[in-house]
Amino acid sequence: MSDFKRVAMLTDVPSGTVYGVDVDGERVAICNVDGEISAVSGTCTHADADLCDGDIEDGCLVCPLHYATFDARTGHAMEPPADEPLKVYEVKIEGEDILVSVG
Ligand code: FES
Repeated sequence: MSDFKRVAMLTDVPSGTVYGVDVDGERVAICNVDGEISAVSGTCTHADADLCDGDIEDGCLVCPLHYATFDARTGHAMEPPADEPLKVYEVKIEGEDILVSVG
């Protein structure tokens, strides 16, 4: 069963940005692509860089270390050097609040 936690407000994650949170010991990158909020693992699958310090470009989350890109909605690895996908977490919006389940 999903266990949603309130992790951020919509105002924390303007369109075209990523916001980092820690949920139950997991680093989670909250992404806003054109107003659509998603949540993926915040740790790069290449060499463990913190993706929450990255950028959103063309719907992708860009790693700040070696610039691998991941689809911000599906977590798919799009550009090397990463080739493993990111975990994707369930998101709910309640009013102005963003809730995420990592369970
Ligand atoms: S750590 Fe992310 S691309 Fe290398």
